[in-house]
Amino acid sequence: MTQLLTLSKAARLVGVKRNTLQQKIREGELSTFEGLLDINELLRVYPETQVEDNTMLEHVNSIKRKAVAKLVEDHKGPAPGIFVRKLDALQERLFSELENNQTMVKLLKLINRTLQNSESNQDTITSLKPILKNFFSQTPSTTNNNDLHSLLNHLPLEVFINYARLSHSGHEFSLDPNETILEAALRAGLSIPYGCNDGSCGRCKCKVNTGLTRQIRHQSHRLSEDELKQGYILPCAWTSLTDIELDAAIAQTNADIEEQAIKCHIKSVIKQRELLVVTLKTPASQRLRFLAGQTIEISINSRSKSIRLPIASCPCEQGTLQIHINDHYREFCGYFIDPQNQHVPVSIKGPFGNNVLNLNSGNSLIFMASHQHFSHIKGLIEQAMALEISEQIDLFWMTEKNQNSPFENNFRAWADAIDNFHFHPIAIDIDNSEPLMTALTSVESAIEHLPNHDFYCCLDDNELQTLRTFLHGRGVAHAQMHLIPAL
Ligand code: FES
Repeated sequence: MTQLLTLSKAARLVGVKRNTLQQKIREGELSTFEGLLDINELLRVYPETQVEDNTMLEHVNSIKRKAVAKLVEDHKGPAPGIFVRKLDALQERLFSELENNQTMVKLLKLINRTLQNSESNQDTITSLKPILKNFFSQTPSTTNNNDLHSLLNHLPLEVFINYARLSHSGHEFSLDPNETILEAALRAGLSIPYGCNDGSCGRCKCKVNTGLTRQIRHQSHRLSEDELKQGYILPCAWTSLTDIELDAAIAQTNADIEEQAIKCHIKSVIKQRELLVVTLKTPASQRLRFLAGQTIEISINSRSKSIRLPIASCPCEQGTLQIHINDHYREFCGYFIDPQNQHVPVSIKGPFGNNVLNLNSGNSLIFMASHQHFSHIKGLIEQAMALEISEQIDLFWMTEKNQNSPFENNFRAWADAIDNFHFHPIAIDIDNSEPLMTALTSVESAIEHLPNHDFYCCLDDNELQTLRTFLHGRGVAHAQMHLIPAL
């Protein structure tokens, strides 16, 4: 049976974190084929896995073709220049590992000869002592971690994909060879510092602790000789040639990101029942730095008042921002729907607010909202999926009976494509005086142990109070309740 699994699928199958498998790949314990894991290889390392009983494997068969096709499509390989540099870097490492390997073989031969010639234990110890002392004083400390076997196992993967680790938070992300380190971090939903995104402001500057990097885009901000020697780079203009460790912190709260003012263009406007779904595009050199779940202030002209709305997209969708405008904001809806305004820039300010994901909790995540409040949690769900921070994500969707929301097709597609995403539609009867209690009964019957979950819920004010009391009564800690008042 040969089946290739993505790292995420494999991690779920054997019940370990993705990082654990990445670690085993790096250490040479698990081998991969172009970033995918063979099921037989996985069973060799995790023999206790119940393959036959696991329904996920049936699903894996159906996604296998898509996964491989996506890999081929997404990883067409590095540009020729980068490819040659990557091979150079790998060749250098290979030579150094071979040298270490030869030193090790020489040492073993020497020990063997000494053992054969020694007549007593004391004699052996006396003869071996200077040999070992000499060996350890001359051998680099990397020999143990970075052995030849690991390098050879990892070599094909390294030509196409590298991994970056952030030393402050321990988060990891993969890097395609043709993208910058900043693009890869943002794609993974990690907001490392940046400003212009075109190599001119220097705000993304950070130090590379380990690994090799290369400049691939123009940068007008100059790094001094001293900074270059110390390993500083501009992630918006550099990529990695090997796995790297970066000395960069990620933004985790509003306090980590300063307010920005940007003029955007309207990319698309779609009517979804009583909502207008507007996608804005920021200039390539002025992307909004924000965290999923935050809000922005929008103004359409100097005469009108601005409105504050949630950003209904993930920072990983670089350069685009989605907002949902309720028909309650008539002037704004009228403005965005008017074709004459499609090419007029829209001013945004932000980001604001602290209803953001707790990246460090490790709990499974539960989201709850209705059609008109979806924009408050949409970015959070997308970021949680991009970061793969949760073993399980459950979305409880409150919808009026016989009132289908166009967003539901999205959720069903997510549930189809992502094994750990579960969609729970809850039909609410508007004649029912306590629709929230109907929803909470569904939550309680679908979820096993509520205190093991973080809750991100957007409801009306009075409903939030009911929800808080309900969760408190089930042993959910205050810090796990992210109850978002609807704007
Ligand atoms: S973001 Fe401005 S130089 Fe990198």
